[in-house]
Formats: sequence, C-alpha cells, structure tokens
Amino acid sequence: MSRLVVRHLSQLATPQGKAARTGAAQGRISRVEDAALVCEDGRISWIGTDADFVAAHGEAPRADDVVLDGRGKTALPGFVDPHTHIPWAGYRESEFNERLKGKTYAEIAAAGGGIVSTVAATRAASVEELAAVTGERLDRMLLHGTTFCEAKTGYGLDLASERKQLAALKAAAAGHPVGVVATALPGHEVPLERRGSEAQKARYVAECCDEILPALAADGARFVDVFCEHGVFDLAESRRILEAGKAVGLAPRLHADELTPLGGARLAAEVGALSADHLLFAQPDGIHAMAKAGVVATLLPGTSVFLRMNRYAPAREMVSAGVAVALGTDCNPGSSYTESLPAVAFFATIGMGLTVEEALTAMTLNAAASVGEAARRGSLEPGKAADVVLVDGRNLEHLVYHYGVNTVTDVVVAGSPVVRDGRRVRA
Ligand code: NIG
Ligand code: FE
Repeated sequence: MSRLVVRHLSQLATPQGKAARTGAAQGRISRVEDAALVCEDGRISWIGTDADFVAAHGEAPRADDVVLDGRGKTALPGFVDPHTHIPWAGYRESEFNERLKGKTYAEIAAAGGGIVSTVAATRAASVEELAAVTGERLDRMLLHGTTFCEAKTGYGLDLASERKQLAALKAAAAGHPVGVVATALPGHEVPLERRGSEAQKARYVAECCDEILPALAADGARFVDVFCEHGVFDLAESRRILEAGKAVGLAPRLHADELTPLGGARLAAEVGALSADHLLFAQPDGIHAMAKAGVVATLLPGTSVFLRMNRYAPAREMVSAGVAVALGTDCNPGSSYTESLPAVAFFATIGMGLTVEEALTAMTLNAAASVGEAARRGSLEPGKAADVVLVDGRNLEHLVYHYGVNTVTDVVVAGSPVVRDGRRVRA
C-alpha cells in the first residue's frame, strides 16, 4: 500500500496518550515545528521534524508516495464530534428568530415547537430522504475537520421511526469517510401520543426499555442516551432507561443538568456512564462524582450561545476537579445548528475559558474517550488511525484565533486524502 507523507509542516500539534487527559494534562500539547508525518496502512507510522524525515527516509519520494505540502499549515488529529443528532428532517429557523424576540426554548417547546415538531417532520420523511440530508451533514462535518462522530436517534420516538432514523444514519455512513457510531435516544422526549397522564408516560418508558432499546441494539447502536431533565425524564426514569440499555449491551451516556440542576451528573457517575453532556447546571458534588468515576464531561457551548442561556458549563471547575472535558457540536435543528467543531472551540475558549491547548484535547483525544475510541484515534502518534487535519496557519492557535472562517484545508482519513484545498476528493 502507498505511503502518505506530509512534509514541511509549519507545526504539528497533538495531545498524547490512549486515554482521556485530565487536569493540567488536558492542556499539555506536543508541538513539533517544521514537522513531517508519514502514514502507512491506514495508520500513522512516523512523526518528527522535516530534517529528521530526510535523515531517516531520504529526500526523494518513493514512486507511489502521496505527498502533501504542509508549508504554512499546521497538522492536527482528525476532530472527533462526540455529540450530534444528525438524522433529522425539517428545520426550526422560526424558533431561532422567536428567541431573538424574547421567547425561551422551554416556552417554544410548551407551545408545540421544540423536539416534537422535529419528530413530526422526521416521522414523515422516507428513509432515503433522511439518509440524504444526514449525508450532507456528514459532508459538512468532514470539510470542517471532523473525521469521527457520534450520532443519535431521538426524533422518532416510536419503534418504527427510531429504527428508520438508525437505518438512515447507517445508509449515510456507509462508505463515507467520517466514521460514525450510533446512540439510541428514544428517551429524548415523551411523544405527543403518550402525554396526558402519568400512566401514559410510564407506558412510553416501558416501551423504550422493553422494545425500542433492544431493537436499536440489535440494529447496531453502541450507546444509550436519555434527556434527563425537569419536565422530560426524571432521575428515576432516566436511570431505568439507561439500565435497560446496559442490559442489552449499550454503554450509557446522558443529557445531564442542561436546563436545571436535576442531578444528572451524579446519575452519570452512578450508572457508570462514559459521558455526561451539556452540564450547564452541574453542581460541585456531581462534578466530583464524575471525576471519581472517570465520566467524561462532553460540553456543548454552541448550545449555550444558540439558546441565549447567558451561562456555560463550569469547564474550569471541571478541569480543576480532574474531570476530562470534551467538546461536541450537539448538531441539531433546535438548539445548535452547526457541523463545525472549530466554531465550538471558539465558544469554548472565549465563553468557558478553556485554553487553545485544552480545547484541542477536548475535540480530539477526550472526545475520542467520550465515545470509547481513545486507544485508536484522537492523537497523532505512531499506531493510531491516520486521521489528520491540516489547518491554514503557522501554529495551532490559528484554528481558534482565526474565527468564523473554515481554516481546514486538507483532511486525511485512514491515510487517504479526502479533502484537498478545501474540497472533497472522491475516489
Ligand atoms: O441536546 N437537550 C435535548 N436535546 C437537544 C435539543 C434537541 C432539539 O431542540 O431538537 C440538545 O440540546
Ligand atoms: Fe443533544
């Protein structure tokens, strides 16, 4: 198999290791100036300075080498987006404007907007229509440097529609350069037809546990998630859904303490979740429980901005407490419509006070840990997957400092260039 060689990089920047980095180590980034990188058989095989590359491999390329010119660019690990909702139909741009005119997310949902309006559009779409829009979202993720992502169901809310969402996701992901891992989220909301009484809601929770989660596990989902929130699923219901997922082999993760301080962070620690997500209202006891249990905090500051929350998750407290912080887009039509992790990194730095180095670890190695992939990806080190992003700029800082534009010029997945000069390369 041919080699891919990147020469004359202005900088190569990466976290290191096969597990999430916490505390001061989250901000520890290895930087090589005037660097070179070699990929073979889908993996990274060599990293060093360009001078060392010449000493080790010679100046002349092999006949079948693919060579990228890294001049003026910085190489980073492919970004990992550990929290998305991409298989959906329909848009909610009117809600975006309603919030600007003074309504809150909760008020809009109570008036019939919100998640259930996306559920109606998603139920009405064919699997082919859903796969097509999901594929377009994967394309945009790739152009912004994401090489691996998590994606959730949760806009079906009945057995057939949840399965259709998962089928559409699988169809979109088949043959796509972005690697996808699926999460079963029938516990995203109570569907309209199961509202009106506690008994009806209990019936839906039972359906999730007894029918939908086993079916989604059999269809290939790897995680179970739940929207643990005041007015949605309480702590006991959330625990029941997560335990039912575990019983059919799904690893738990959850939407926790997003809008109110319900105690989802502590629940995440108690059920052994891989990740607790959002966490705007996480309390100190929950944060310490997460640190002790090794739960990754997957923070979604784009959602804070999009919903005009005037608050962010307490990221600095989490880093100080020894919680591994990851970043995700939360890409969805209601609370965060973006496929761009660099945009999220901007909010994470300016809004939550992460340093650029901490943000890089959060969107690569710690994000990989959030989805159980840290041993295989998330850093540029020999043996790891050859998923590499080149950014236009002489060092890592340019990824975040040059905001509001896409600085990603090239993307390599498993050693093959799939984006060159900002455009998709199709085999
Ligand atoms: O992660 N919190 C729940 N779910 C989404 C919002 C989904 C929607 O509004 O459609 C979130 O923010
Ligand atoms: Fe979400």
